[in-house]
Amino acid sequence: MSKPFHLAWFLQGSSAQAWGEAWTGHIGSSWMQPELFLNMARSLERACFDYILLEDSSYVGESFGDSTEIYLKNAIAVPRQDPSVVAALMTQVTSRIGIVPTFGTYAYHPYLLARLVATLDQVSGGRIGWNAVTGSSDFAAMNFGMQGMPEHDLRYDMADEYMEVCRGLWGSWEPGALIADRKNGILVDHTKVHAVNYQGRFYSTRGPLNSGPAPQGQPVIAQAGGSPRGRKFAAAHADTIVVHAKGVEAMKAYRDDVHKHMKAQGRKPEDCKILFLINPILGETMEEAQERRKQRQAIAMEKIEERLAHFGKVTNIDFGQFDLDKPLPDHVTTNGHQANLEQFRKMANGRSIRETMASFNAVDLSIELVGTPDSVAARMGEVMQEVGGDGYLFSMPNVNRRTLAEIEDGLVPALQDRGLMRTAYEHKHFRDNLLAY
Ligand SMILES: Cc1cc2nc3c(=O)[nH]c(=O)nc-3n(C[C@H](O)[C@H](O)[C@H](O)COP(=O)(O)O)c2cc1C
Repeated sequence: MSKPFHLAWFLQGSSAQAWGEAWTGHIGSSWMQPELFLNMARSLERACFDYILLEDSSYVGESFGDSTEIYLKNAIAVPRQDPSVVAALMTQVTSRIGIVPTFGTYAYHPYLLARLVATLDQVSGGRIGWNAVTGSSDFAAMNFGMQGMPEHDLRYDMADEYMEVCRGLWGSWEPGALIADRKNGILVDHTKVHAVNYQGRFYSTRGPLNSGPAPQGQPVIAQAGGSPRGRKFAAAHADTIVVHAKGVEAMKAYRDDVHKHMKAQGRKPEDCKILFLINPILGETMEEAQERRKQRQAIAMEKIEERLAHFGKVTNIDFGQFDLDKPLPDHVTTNGHQANLEQFRKMANGRSIRETMASFNAVDLSIELVGTPDSVAARMGEVMQEVGGDGYLFSMPNVNRRTLAEIEDGLVPALQDRGLMRTAYEHKHFRDNLLAY
């Protein structure tokens, strides 16, 4: 019997995502109301997904051609809402699935962040994760009064300390501190609530946390570090890592590397679930699926500039300044997402920016998945067996109710029939489900 794996969904914020795509109805005006996203949460819970990750950045892109135009015109990561609000709403229409909003360490004092995440964990009944990102854009930094982002590796040093502060604050309420003893009139046993008194190089706080305890004790931490320093950070703190690794060999190598870092830090590899980005393209027949893949490839070709604008947003590179029919100049580096730029360079192999972008994350992500629900389920199973685990993160460009139905009522039942996906949640809390197998 095959071993089940974990599934999660990568939502590009509660936003006008998939603007311009088919089957998105009036998303251009309806995105402010959460119905589509709440529907998604219900649908993915019926499909027994482990979690929904709500991606975020807190600025309007301006990297392409030194202008906001391409971003605003095409809804590239803008407009979007604060993920904490939609995350809270999602928790109220579900009861088992994990909800993982993204918060940047540059944007919150750790006390406020720890309190926000603990509160979300409370209202969700222990189903909150935090996608802990350091942020990467100078534009975002400027929105918070800074001149720019600290240097890439220094951001992770700061984030290491940040995590220590948060863990301390979440631990400031011992288990059993909240006794709610009506007979003796005692709500909280004050001997079990402690100050933290943390004085670090970058952050300090007093504590205890005034929100009270998080049901999970320590909420789930998600991470996506791709660079060597990022991987080390993720290996130190994450309960789940989301990663885009191209092909089975790269997937295996990434997982092995993170496991090596985890062991070096005294952690057990099975305590962190590594999920690989996929974008399955389904059809009722192989021919239909292949046709849909061709359509997606054509859309990706039409949208080269938009896709470069998005890539430039996370790498702080203005691709609008280059001749797209020439290779990316060697001197171009990034203080943003280093792993992505490295992947682009590797793929370019001397080709022009346009040619490289034609295939760079155009359709397939970690692996190609095109076919009927049954054939795609089989391939997902084969790859997972080769890689060793732990699951997949769906990153779909065309998020709409039709896509959700294809996953919930097509692909997931095919996975379940093969024993590759759970048919019911094992536990009440998010981390327990994540670590159930
Ligand atoms: C699936 C996935 C989701 C991510 N989500 C976010 C996000 O919501 N916000 C953000 O600022 N960065 C996000 N990132 C970027 C990562 O935090 C990280 O910066 C990136 O993977 C590059 O790694 P590096 O910083 O170690 O070079 C995401 C990355 C991946 C692969």
